[in-house]
Amino acid sequence: MAETWCWLWVLFCVASWSLVSGQTKEEIQVPENQSVNLPCKAKAGVGTPSRLEWKFQGSSGTAFVYYEGQLTESYKNRADFHPNELYLKSVTRKDTGQYTCQVVGDINSGLRENTIDLVVQVPPSKPKAHVPSSVTIGNRAVLTCLETDGSPRPTFKWYRNDILMPVDPKTNTLFKNSSYTLDSSTGVLTFEPATSFDVGDYACEADNSIGASQKSEAVHLEPSEVNVGGIVAAVVLLLIVFGLAAFGIWFAYSRGFFSKRRDTSSKKVIYSQPSSRSDGEFKQTSSFLV
Ligand SMILES: *[C@@H]1O[C@H](CO)[C@@H](O)[C@H](O)[C@H]1NC(C)=O
Ligand SMILES: *[C@@H]1O[C@H](CO)[C@@H](O)[C@H](O)[C@H]1NC(C)=O
Repeated sequence: MAETWCWLWVLFCVASWSLVSGQTKEEIQVPENQSVNLPCKAKAGVGTPSRLEWKFQGSSGTAFVYYEGQLTESYKNRADFHPNELYLKSVTRKDTGQYTCQVVGDINSGLRENTIDLVVQVPPSKPKAHVPSSVTIGNRAVLTCLETDGSPRPTFKWYRNDILMPVDPKTNTLFKNSSYTLDSSTGVLTFEPATSFDVGDYACEADNSIGASQKSEAVHLEPSEVNVGGIVAAVVLLLIVFGLAAFGIWFAYSRGFFSKRRDTSSKKVIYSQPSSRSDGEFKQTSSFLV
């Protein structure tokens, strides 16, 4: 019994909240370069609203479409205002976004609004498959598919040597030696690890059901063994360089290139122990000094 009351209370709450806010949401799709009607459903039952505004929120920010009784500058030539709807004459991909009609009615109806998600349909352009220039067997290799026009966002497929790759490699004998994951919503193909079985020409395809799907040029992937020869050569070269440097330093030292430094350190000895010098030399030095 208590539970029933609890549920009724929740239902009442939800129902009254949607009445107060008067919020509804819907999606409309329209091909690019065509016209579209965006209904202002919030206006229904309000009578003559004291205020009506259309707002747009797109990828580049928020702007008014209709404000203070008129269309704003950027919409004047490409939209028509009607009390119950907004008419866009020819939409471009930049018009994809959220349109909100906000209405202020009398005291009883309060503020109401409805939001429309407008998706301007654009077919995908030819995608670009990206394959890392150097892939080592046993390491991870990430292939990506770049496509920027498609709206709604396309999904992706990959081909190896023109054969469609299954999302799960274990389901096809041709790919069962490979170990990869394929994310069809982002187009990312990850080999983990890359093996010698993964050699081939890879191409990706973008499709959003608007117009024809588009396939990229194929890019060659050739995982290679770790370059042992290269590493050995580098180590040998490094040893030779060190050896030459060490020899150079020894040679310079033995030829007295560092003697200037030895002089300064032995000066002390000359002054503190003049007696160690021969008499003649001492006299010479003192006569010179006197
Ligand atoms: C819409 O028109 C523009 C300009 O004429 C053009 O570049 C674009 O490809 C068209 N869009 C579609 C989906 O046909
Ligand atoms: C998979 O690996 C096995 C064993 O190494 C080999 O015999 C077979 O030919 C490979 N299959 C493919 C499609 O490369």
